Amino acid sequence: MTVTKRNVVGGSVVTELLKHPHLYHVRAITRDPSKPKAQQLAAQGVELCRADLEGNRETLTAALAGADVIYALTDFWQKRSAAAEIEQGKAIVDAAAGVVTLQHFIWSALPDPVALSDGKYLNVHHWKGKSLVTEYIQTQKPDLWAKTTTILFPNYFENTLTDPQRYLPVKDAKGTYTLKFPHSPQTVLPNVAIRDTGKLVHHVLEARSTYFTKTIAFWAQALSEAEKLAEMGSYYNVPTRYQASSAREFQELLMTRDGMSEDIALDFTEQLLIFESCGNVYACEKFVQAKDSWSEFIREHKLL
Ligand SMILES: NC(=O)c1ccc[n+]([C@@H]2O[C@H](COP(=O)([O-])OP(=O)(O)OC[C@H]3O[C@@H](n4cnc5c(N)ncnc54)[C@H](OP(=O)(O)O)[C@@H]3O)[C@@H](O)[C@H]2O)c1
Repeated sequence: MTVTKRNVVGGSVVTELLKHPHLYHVRAITRDPSKPKAQQLAAQGVELCRADLEGNRETLTAALAGADVIYALTDFWQKRSAAAEIEQGKAIVDAAAGVVTLQHFIWSALPDPVALSDGKYLNVHHWKGKSLVTEYIQTQKPDLWAKTTTILFPNYFENTLTDPQRYLPVKDAKGTYTLKFPHSPQTVLPNVAIRDTGKLVHHVLEARSTYFTKTIAFWAQALSEAEKLAEMGSYYNVPTRYQASSAREFQELLMTRDGMSEDIALDFTEQLLIFESCGNVYACEKFVQAKDSWSEFIREHKLL
């Protein structure tokens, strides 16, 4: 049977899926349908469902009922707790496993930092929690796993907009823009413009069973923070300086400047050190590639 109109429960992919109203009816889960962001979605034709991933499971089950596709993600940063994130993930997975109409489950995740680093980095909880949920689907919910595509997310270009103090350089008295990161200037990270998520998810849905049980490493460009800074400097015609700090120095900066606890600052620092020690662990030709570049992004946003 060819399904021409599918129900999708999701978040950041809605903009793309709304471009295809003949294919998708989009339902979004929020804890507060009255907030402006949710109301904007409603105005675009998205059906809103109130549910809390850490609340009553019956509400979540009702919100997912009848879905053909579920796009699911958890949010570590609001509570900064791996236990809470794992609970959120398992709640979605348990509810999704009971959705009889479900054809495709897309799970937004991060890789296992301990396995990737051969046991070197044990404190990257916001990766580990997501990878444990992936493992939970695979080992405890085999029927759901059979129709699951896991997408590993990289460093967003948009971090410069949401957390400019951390991702943008600081101008000193002489007019030089300095950026501190715990990386050598050559260490590259996988990067993407988050708006490409919708294009990727649409592609994955159209490919139907092609990516069932597969893990897609989602990234457009492997870039070092030093390269990103240099390109920004050249675009804005300002002097820049990349300063590689020690891991400890960077962790302390996250604590004093960004108000992170010692544990969370270590979590954040160690995720970056994985790329320093293990290279670009997302690079693999068999994975789907995104298209936007850092060059395009700095031309479209006023960053400095
Ligand atoms: N920044 C990066 O470079 C990067 C890279 C890879 C992965 N990630 C991961 O991305 C995740 C955050 O995603 P994002 O940046 O898209 O966050 P976001 O824009 O802040 O969105 C988080 C969403 O989660 C919903 N949410 C949070 N707690 C919920 C709960 N208990 N029940 C129901 N919904 C809940 C919120 O909905 P309402 O508020 O409307 O209820 C909101 O729509 C994090 O886990 C992070 O580790 C980030």
